[in-house]
Amino acid sequence: MTQSLTIRRPDDWHLHLRDGAMLKAVLPETARHFGRAIVMPNLVPPVVTGDDASAYRARIMAALPQGMTFEPLMTLYLTEDTDPEDVRKAAESGLVTAVKLYPAGATTNSASGVTDFDRVRCVLDTMAEIGLPLCVHGEVTDPEIDIFDREAVFIERVLDPIRTKTPGLRVVMEHITTAQAADYVRAGDADLAATITVQHLMLDRNDMLVGGMRPHYYCLPILKRRDHRDALVSLATSGFDRVFLGTDSAPHPTHRKEAECCAAGAFTAPIALACIAEVFDEQDALDTYEAFVSLNGPAFYRLPVSDETLTLTKGARVDIPKTIAAGGETVTVFDPARPIHWSVS
Ligand code: DOR
Ligand code: ZN
Repeated sequence: MTQSLTIRRPDDWHLHLRDGAMLKAVLPETARHFGRAIVMPNLVPPVVTGDDASAYRARIMAALPQGMTFEPLMTLYLTEDTDPEDVRKAAESGLVTAVKLYPAGATTNSASGVTDFDRVRCVLDTMAEIGLPLCVHGEVTDPEIDIFDREAVFIERVLDPIRTKTPGLRVVMEHITTAQAADYVRAGDADLAATITVQHLMLDRNDMLVGGMRPHYYCLPILKRRDHRDALVSLATSGFDRVFLGTDSAPHPTHRKEAECCAAGAFTAPIALACIAEVFDEQDALDTYEAFVSLNGPAFYRLPVSDETLTLTKGARVDIPKTIAAGGETVTVFDPARPIHWSVS
């Protein structure tokens, strides 16, 4: 029996578009379905100033194929030298939608991130004053802390103190992966939200490690135990309004994933909406799907909901492309490790 679901056009609240040939290759995969996306600033060199964001935005719009509509929501990469007045100007002109906090060394291209959180206090105070959200990569980088505990420890040691010291700061906990993060966002106030990725709703660390290591499942924060995934699925499908889809679709050339030292990131953009529909369907929660992918994000970011619609259809198992071409290289598409029956029609 075919089943269909018509919803407001979704947005992706956490996306890596990269630059150059990779940008050209991956942008249509997002713009085909999503109306807007929060675009991550971790280029090399990073998007630090309003001028950087303006130039990057122009490159994105130039790479958008004719006939496609898409609005990139730009972010600035927070460094210890970020000028609060530049942030204010970029936000007030409508150029940037958020600022991204990477603890230095936490993930791909995060070397210019923050080491001493007191050194960015002025920027955070300005952001609280103007209501500009801070998107947070929530992992400590202390080598003493086990990689599987880095998110939970970050909440205690860094995030909670930041929120106490800068009241009114609007925070998005990006790509949450643990029951502790799910509990923390639930307990928070209207200024706290979280995004969840496709892979963290579909997989746990066994999928990555048992029977051989699967590099395309390696991302940061790393996949956790099954009970953490269950907590995320339960939060996402509950209808709770401060959680929404941020795919963290993070393309790397296949040879950089299938390497001795594998790059972190899963390229989920082409099949993200279908995968999420499968997860919500399994939970008998299709009634909360639109909130998670299309409504909760705009509400938190204080943006209008899309006035376009998109229809998903459930039918026979769909074929998922293995790779896409990017310049002279390929990017491997995320394999959801289970049959997918939904597709965007
Ligand atoms: O897996 C990840 N890949 N996590 C991040 O935080 C960054 C991203 C990337 O840029 O490749
Ligand atoms: Zn990311």
